Amino acid sequence: MPTDLRPRREVTSFVRRSARMRDSLRRTYEAQVGGLVLDVPAGELRTSVADDAGVLDPAALFGRVAPLVVEIGCGPGDSLVPMATARPEVDVLAFEVYEPAVAALVSRLVREGVRNVRVAAVDAVAGLERLVPAGSLAEVWTFFPDPWPKARHHKRRLVDAAFADLVAARLAPGGRWRLATDWAGYAEQMRAVLDAHPAFVAEDEDGVGTRGDRPVTRFERRGLAEGRAITDLSYRRAG
Ligand SMILES: C[S@@+](CC[C@H](N)C(=O)[O-])C[C@H]1O[C@@H](n2cnc3c(N)ncnc32)[C@H](O)[C@@H]1O
Repeated sequence: MPTDLRPRREVTSFVRRSARMRDSLRRTYEAQVGGLVLDVPAGELRTSVADDAGVLDPAALFGRVAPLVVEIGCGPGDSLVPMATARPEVDVLAFEVYEPAVAALVSRLVREGVRNVRVAAVDAVAGLERLVPAGSLAEVWTFFPDPWPKARHHKRRLVDAAFADLVAARLAPGGRWRLATDWAGYAEQMRAVLDAHPAFVAEDEDGVGTRGDRPVTRFERRGLAEGRAITDLSYRRAG
């Protein structure tokens, strides 16, 4: 196909990394596709979602009707597993593009018998857009999204005005968006985006939340070791 006719790749918040993993981990992962791991019809890329994938039915996915939380970029589940375990009354759908991290998460979910988590190994933007029903989410968690600190990479940052529109559309009225970062510049960007957004109201005067039940993850620990301060933010979707 001539170069100029190839479909344009959008800028994504992640780069594709080699997904080598131990055989035993791969087997655990593959055994859970269609179980804990959503079997999502892929689009052009492995991390994309086919146009005709269809919106999920959370009740069918979890086998019950419960408040639904989405975590974006859960990594191996350092926050997700303890937070979901501590709140058995909610269901959590996680999006994570890095398959070895998804495999590590799945292995932990199986080992610990966690029943209220499902994971989709696709881009969270496509997942939210195509799989998650509008107005269905009680909460969205975005903890330590890749910071892309260099100015020329800022366009890759996940949290921008367009992404805030998407999160607002998927949250139920009154639903909460919790975010955390160890990069001061990204915290400022998050706050600017959310303060300017008509659908969001800061939970505290300036949006600064507390870590609450959020455990310290290895990414957070690295940030702290490198001298960065942690910012937690919490906003609600207005009525
Ligand atoms: C810095 S890590 C933080 C992981 C985890 N939230 C924590 O606090 O330990 C960011 C994660 O987001 C994932 N990620 C980045 N962009 C994503 C996207 N668009 N959809 C799903 N996952 C994404 C990366 O693969 C990575 O695992």
